[in-house]
Amino acid sequence: MRIILMGPPGVGKGSEAELLIKSFQIPHISTGDIFRELYKDRTTVGKIAKEYISRGELVPDDITNEIVRHRLSQPDVKKGFLFDGYPRNIEQAKALDEILAKKGCKLDAVINIDAPEEQIVERISGRRVCSTCGAVYHIHSKKPQVEGICDLDGGQLIQRNDDMPETVQRRLRIYKDQTAPVIGYYQEKGAIVYIDGTSTIAHTHAQVMKALGELN
Ligand code: AP5
Repeated sequence: MRIILMGPPGVGKGSEAELLIKSFQIPHISTGDIFRELYKDRTTVGKIAKEYISRGELVPDDITNEIVRHRLSQPDVKKGFLFDGYPRNIEQAKALDEILAKKGCKLDAVINIDAPEEQIVERISGRRVCSTCGAVYHIHSKKPQVEGICDLDGGQLIQRNDDMPETVQRRLRIYKDQTAPVIGYYQEKGAIVYIDGTSTIAHTHAQVMKALGELN
């Protein structure tokens, strides 16, 4: 399966991605996670990306597309892949088309998860992530067993610095201006499925699996 997962910041793409990659045994390609890893490793690209991320802006297309091109040259994507957070504007969508055409492969599905803005802001403001492994929690809907501590590795749970209210508002504005038009781009190609992301993580996943089943 070759899948793109779209949706506004904080709607639950990463949470759904975790479940989908288990169902299909495919690699999870989150450009946001890749940038955060590159920054953790103190690479030059990571430091540049961090400046954009902390302002809530998109990392420039040349950097992002190059990262994706490199990732898609790895052997594990032969069995498929799940993009989460890419493409994020029309230029990136066209770049991905070119990369895939050169590899002679096509997308199987583009999934767009959506929810009202108040709900998204509530999800983002309650999100906590493990400072060591990046596992994602929520102060109400996905609590760790011990408050403030990651269930998986005992790391400290922190708030992402781009999850602060002012930055979230900018991310949402950029989503509307630059990323939402990508939905129309895939709609014209007839490849998109729309998922209501207002319910629980489990219910969202059930809807996604049903929609993917109906495509085949
Ligand atoms: P990225 O890391 O991709 O962030 P995002 O798209 O803004 O998405 P989030 O990670 O904030 O949210 P999500 O939808 O994955 O939600 P989650 O599952 O965590 O990008 C970060 C930055 O990197 C960008 O702003 C940009 O600067 C840069 N970047 C990345 N890709 C780029 C690209 N292609 N081009 C240029 N720049 C790029 O859920 C959120 C919370 O809600 C969690 O706490 C979760 O537990 C909870 N939750 C989820 N679903 C539910 C549910 N159904 N019910 C209740 N709670 C839920």
